Amino acid sequence: MTSPLTTAERNELIQAAISARAGAYAKYSKFQVGAALRTADVQIITGANVENASYGLTICAERVAMHAAVAAGHRRFTALAVATTGGLTPCGACRQVLAEFCDDLPIFLVDADNPAKIAETSLAALLPQRFRLEE
Ligand code: THU
Repeated sequence: MTSPLTTAERNELIQAAISARAGAYAKYSKFQVGAALRTADVQIITGANVENASYGLTICAERVAMHAAVAAGHRRFTALAVATTGGLTPCGACRQVLAEFCDDLPIFLVDADNPAKIAETSLAALLPQRFRLEE
């Protein structure tokens, strides 16, 4: 999926993901993740990973961003940026959560240690044949 965003819009979203990373509570893994979602009405909602001493209760940056956006009333999204060391892709659980609201979504992956290194992929590429309940 080619991103409909302009270069300036894309850069703004990527910068928001990099900045959001500072909010990570990554006490156990020390692996900070920042996510920035662009809503259809052109707002940027960010999230960072929040870990817990009971490790399984950790929530990823992408889900923090998506749940905050949905709780604020947003239902349609035009792009996601994720910032990590290495520019890694969202985990499987986050892909499924994103898919609840997006058939497809351009996803920018930025290496926070080298922000010029940006890869572009999409939700449909990362999560083919996702679980869906018939409506
Ligand atoms: N993490 C994310 O925030 N997003 C992902 O897509 C994968 C992993 C977080 C969870 C945990 O706090 C840390 O990265 C290491 O797994």
